[in-house]
Amino acid sequence: MERWSPGSWRNLPIEQTPVYRDQTGLADVERQLAGFPPLVFAGEARNLKRHLAEVAAGKAFLLQGGDCAESFSEHSADNIRDFFRVFLQMAVVLTYAAASPVVKVGRIAGQFAKPRSSPLEKQGDLELPSYRGDIINDLAFNPQAREPDPQRQLLAYRQSAATLNLIRAFAAGGFANLENVHRWMLGFVKSSPQSERYQKLADQITETLSFMRAIGLDPEHHPELRGTDFYTSHEALLLCYEQALTRIDSTTGDYYATSGHMLWVGDRTRQEDGAHIEFVRGVKNPLGLKCGPSLKPDALLRLIDALDPENEPGRLTLICRFGADKVEDALPALVRAVTREGRNIVWSCDPMHGNTVSAGGYKTRPFDRIMSEIRNFFAVHQAEGSYAGGIHLEMTGKDVTECMGGARAISESDLRDRYHTYCDPRLNAEQAIEVAFLVAELLKAERVARGVREQHAAE
Ligand code: PEP
Ligand code: CO
Repeated sequence: MERWSPGSWRNLPIEQTPVYRDQTGLADVERQLAGFPPLVFAGEARNLKRHLAEVAAGKAFLLQGGDCAESFSEHSADNIRDFFRVFLQMAVVLTYAAASPVVKVGRIAGQFAKPRSSPLEKQGDLELPSYRGDIINDLAFNPQAREPDPQRQLLAYRQSAATLNLIRAFAAGGFANLENVHRWMLGFVKSSPQSERYQKLADQITETLSFMRAIGLDPEHHPELRGTDFYTSHEALLLCYEQALTRIDSTTGDYYATSGHMLWVGDRTRQEDGAHIEFVRGVKNPLGLKCGPSLKPDALLRLIDALDPENEPGRLTLICRFGADKVEDALPALVRAVTREGRNIVWSCDPMHGNTVSAGGYKTRPFDRIMSEIRNFFAVHQAEGSYAGGIHLEMTGKDVTECMGGARAISESDLRDRYHTYCDPRLNAEQAIEVAFLVAELLKAERVARGVREQHAAE
């Protein structure tokens, strides 16, 4: 393996990177960032890796989700609180159904840089650089807004710090109290048009909590029921920013990216000899790798060798995003290759990025296609004897109208009502919790099937 340094990616071909005209300004920003405090600590990243190792072993489930792109203008306590509240409700439903811990990882506090399918965007006769996320340029369609501005990295850093600060307070300060979360979830079930379908599971959770309280397991006496572990993640796309926030951990002497707990490499930047793979292979954080339909088993195995040469459980999560109709063609060969080589990875399903369609002039995602990708993902793992370990969603805590369908049957003509995303269409609060209830059904079925298999094996 070639020698690695935080800057060794700079010698390699790179995709999806902005061209900064202001090189002096860029160098100055990188110098400032390199002197700022870390956003997360190496010990936390190691804790997350330990939890993900449990997922790799089939003993926990990964819930990862949040905005496609965080934005500077939608940075408010309300947005963060609403997201966190929905995320916790989903986690409770999944924990109950899986009867195992749910590892909670947000796409938040750093998810600012976006890969784009085209470097340029044309409107009328005017052609300008594409919007690449608020850390790089501005969504407004004029030449000045679209010019990459290094100062934006400082704003992204500060917004990430403020977001993380509030999340840490929510996670530890009583807001995440299990009985609160349960009450919110009951509110959701009551008002859902599908409440009949969700009621049974909700009642079972209610009974379990009453039983726990009866035997003295209540939040007043058990701090672990008043708080939760929550981790951050984002795509490691803007490497100058990531490098500036990479630090040596004083307890181990290892390099960690301190911009977030977990970093992933996107489907468009996972070239084996490219800059993004080079950067992430050298930091010890847990990593994600997006796997799309163009990824072949031998290339995947080479990428796994590069990113996880020691086959360390929890190090690598493969985030599969094929499209509902491609999972059954593409996934089995990858699963077989990984299983044959005995690699300890986490399989997670991103049912969003392969299911984007356009309708009524909007980019959207049909709820049914999203669920169908998840179902196919579970079915393949069941058939291959591997473990469907997690889901990766684009979602918000707000009542937006960006994805079609769901219990409220958002239609093509509803999309224009509250279409607020800066990039890809997200599940709204209700749709996200619905996904959790439907995945809960799959997890329960899987648990039953596993029990039957184990019983057969014992006989
Ligand atoms: C994303 O997660 O927002 C994204 C761009 O995904 P992918 O790299 O899988 O297309
Ligand atoms: Co996206």
